[in-house]
Amino acid sequence: MKPTNPPKTYRVKSFGCQMNVYDGERMGELLAEQGITPAPEGEDADLVVLNTCHIREKAAEKIYSDIGRLTKGKAQKKAPMIAVAGCVAQAEGEEIMARAPAVSMVVGPQAYHRLPEMVEDAVKGKRGTDTDMPAIAKFAALPQRRKSAPAAFLTIQEGCDKFCTYCVVPYTRGAEISRPYSDLVDEALKLVDAGAREITLLGQNVSAWSGEDETGTRQGLAGLIRRLAKVDGLERLRYTTSHPADMDDDLIAAHGEIDKLMPYLHLPVQAGNDRILKAMNRSHTAESYLRLLERFRAARPDLALSGDFIVGFPGETDAEFEDTLKIVDEVRYAQAYSFKYSPRPGTPAATMDDQVPLEVMDERLQRLQAALNRDQMAFNAASEGKTCQVLVERKGKLPGQWLGKSPWLQSVWYEGPENGRGAIGDLVQVDLIEAGPNSIRGALSETVSA
Ligand code: 5AD
Ligand code: SF4
Repeated sequence: MKPTNPPKTYRVKSFGCQMNVYDGERMGELLAEQGITPAPEGEDADLVVLNTCHIREKAAEKIYSDIGRLTKGKAQKKAPMIAVAGCVAQAEGEEIMARAPAVSMVVGPQAYHRLPEMVEDAVKGKRGTDTDMPAIAKFAALPQRRKSAPAAFLTIQEGCDKFCTYCVVPYTRGAEISRPYSDLVDEALKLVDAGAREITLLGQNVSAWSGEDETGTRQGLAGLIRRLAKVDGLERLRYTTSHPADMDDDLIAAHGEIDKLMPYLHLPVQAGNDRILKAMNRSHTAESYLRLLERFRAARPDLALSGDFIVGFPGETDAEFEDTLKIVDEVRYAQAYSFKYSPRPGTPAATMDDQVPLEVMDERLQRLQAALNRDQMAFNAASEGKTCQVLVERKGKLPGQWLGKSPWLQSVWYEGPENGRGAIGDLVQVDLIEAGPNSIRGALSETVSA
């Protein structure tokens, strides 16, 4: 690779989960410290970071088409310096370097604090790969948080020890590790100073977080939430994603006791049939999952539920798939994600017998999504006529429109004045007027102020 001019501008393209969005923001902060500025919207960047996702085959293959578009001048006029980060970088680093000579550096999710050095090397014409997995060294090496959107992410835990048989995460993100309590309190305070009013605590298995508080007492996720709820200026807390196995009584109680903890729970079930759940190495049954939700709903009756589903896991019969529809009918999710099973290299399920044909998966996914869409619409429709608190996050598509989230994570938009109540970062009361499948039209409430 030839030496090149130091990049002046960057763009980070993050794919996949919210952990990647968090990592993408932190990479941007690192590059900014190095004097590289974000490329303005619509303008070419000198350095493009592709922050990739490896969870399903489609997501992973996308990176090669993106690299092609960047180097052939279809995505931007001049080919940029390219960095590949995220979980594809972790899993296929060497292969990417061999297959895509235009890539200057490959950096895994636990090593991206080294990005500035790697950019300097690339300027000198040296390509580099870093996919080491040191337990948490990265966080200490990241710059302080200076600017935050009203709704911010905070990674509190990384990795996964659950080894669901279809999933690459334990291999790409490594073993479960928790960031220390005091670091998290510190980062939350900085985020609030920087403009955050809502924080979503992130982790592949956020409910497995544990740490020692100021007094040396061991705390779980609920303890951390209780501490963060005391931060002045922080008005809302959320967390994602959880595993049914780690949900303890204290966390359930926290949902009933802490007003700042929003009434929303993303708790993936994956499938509704116990034989399939066992083959997936999920440690719950359909029944134990439903009982767990009952306890959450008893603590917080207005809790909105969300989940993840996989259709067509190897060996799944029509009757077993029907059990997934049954669980959907029982829970009535406010929102959910559903996927066709995608065999991932190196996972146990990839070599199981009876892989389900694509047409069968397509048909199952359609039926599942029809049921989930029906429930999401019903959940939104039930909000019509209510007044709720909205955190205003950004302007809408048309002038005068503002967009934010309800406590139940619904997108709400309304028309409001340019300067005045209801600007970005405000918490306002909004009358919910007309529900659609993906958003609700509202109006600033005249009656109550937030
Ligand atoms: N195929 C399809 N979906 C998957 N997920 C994880 N691995 C796979 C796979 N191999 C889904 C699960 C998980 C979500 C993040 O992605 O539903 O909860
Ligand atoms: Fe993957 Fe299962 Fe871990 Fe979730 S709990 S990250 S699905 S292995």
